[in-house]
Amino acid sequence: MVSLSKHEPVLLLILRQAQDEVVFQVAKDGAGMRVLVVGSGGREHALCWALAASPLCDKLYCAPGNAGIAGEAECVPVAADDIQGLVRFATGNAIDFVVVGPEVPLVKGLVDRLEEAGIKAFGPSERAAALEGSKSFMKELCAKYAIPTAAFRRFTDPADARRYVREAGAPIVVKADGLAAGKGVVVAQSLEEAEAAIDDMLVQRSFGEAGGEIVIEEFLEGEEVSFFALVDGTHALPLASAQDHKTAYDGDKGPNTGGMGAYSPAPVLDEILADRVMAEIVEPTVKAMAAEGRPFKGVLFAGLMIGPKGPRLLEYNVRFGDPEAQVLCLRLMSDLLPALVAARDGQLGNFHLRWKPEAAVAVVMAAKGYPGPYRKGTPIGGLDRAQKLAGVYVFHAGTARDATGQLTANGGRVLGVNALGSSIGEARARAYAAVDLVDWPDGFCRRDIAWRAMARLAPGRR
Ligand code: AMP
Ligand code: GLY
Repeated sequence: MVSLSKHEPVLLLILRQAQDEVVFQVAKDGAGMRVLVVGSGGREHALCWALAASPLCDKLYCAPGNAGIAGEAECVPVAADDIQGLVRFATGNAIDFVVVGPEVPLVKGLVDRLEEAGIKAFGPSERAAALEGSKSFMKELCAKYAIPTAAFRRFTDPADARRYVREAGAPIVVKADGLAAGKGVVVAQSLEEAEAAIDDMLVQRSFGEAGGEIVIEEFLEGEEVSFFALVDGTHALPLASAQDHKTAYDGDKGPNTGGMGAYSPAPVLDEILADRVMAEIVEPTVKAMAAEGRPFKGVLFAGLMIGPKGPRLLEYNVRFGDPEAQVLCLRLMSDLLPALVAARDGQLGNFHLRWKPEAAVAVVMAAKGYPGPYRKGTPIGGLDRAQKLAGVYVFHAGTARDATGQLTANGGRVLGVNALGSSIGEARARAYAAVDLVDWPDGFCRRDIAWRAMARLAPGRR
């Protein structure tokens, strides 16, 4: 019997060769890993789905998980931000490897605490997670290492900030420094809006400590694009392209959300642009983080604006996007688990990932009212029918079961109805056919997911 966690050379061999047969051979020898995924959204359901399929994975837990994740993993009632509780669970249950989904535990140092306890974990350290946890840190890093981003100034004093926006003029962007659950960015079209945002963050302290400092930056025009890479401290391995839709309603209108749908591949991100993003933004960032003594490991998710001068960085996230992770996991042909272990072990240098040629589309079904107030506990039916359609996979983002076993909504974003297809158009048609079979009167979705991709593709390739 070989145990991966205790026999590093065996694992290294697998990672170097990265060949399915080798992985399978080891798995047959009974060397399965005990894996814990942290989080409870559609991203974590997709990760669990991919990890559960790995021949290297012997036992899969998810903390806290949801009703859909329970089909792939054993859900354990430990909150995703309960750092002590997660470390206790991992040490008490002989976990070999932890995959951290959301940003909050990363920024709170979960990976550091796990590694100190001798448990391997996928994701950045607390000091590296500052790329998402502190906009000021991210902007200063870009300035120091000439990584293209919007011009910016930092403020703690509201009077100074107001004076600055009056000089700079609108449109202008006001950002809370810290994590604000996606709500800490105001793209102000007028000076009044900018001053109201400054007041809200620095005076009213609507975001608490996260808004104690703000970044005010130049408004960038262009098309927004997301870029994902696995990073092992030194090497960056780009993932397939994927793009989300951030606003709540059709036509990219309405309030910002975590993401109402996604598609992969994203035609806007062609090879030439991807190479530029790697050379001008991602690789310089990986080098900069290493030079700063904060080597980055995990998924680096760059939010970019593609303008006349090329790609510029809007923001970094230090985790997979959601729902982008759903379409990426569906298209990934390679085993996800060794790829994540390789990122943790600094072994991505010779690694490559294979992707299905098919396209994937995810349509998010959310509770009516989201991203504002919404009801929980409303019943959902029809998923069995929906999931029987060709190419369809439904990932749960916020579901629970009531005392009778009925599936209910338990969050703002509730389901990710995904489909694979030979083209974006086919994947999208399949996803919406599945949405139409879901019986959830209290839910809604956008009807135009992937419209930008469709518009960009020639009619014959849609
Ligand atoms: P962030 O969380 O920093 O990505 O900001 C949220 C959203 O605000 C982005 O997805 C963009 O749509 C928009 N945004 C952020 N920064 C800028 C900027 N400098 N110029 C234009 N739009 C921006
Ligand atoms: N879908 C965007 C995000 O996960 O932040």
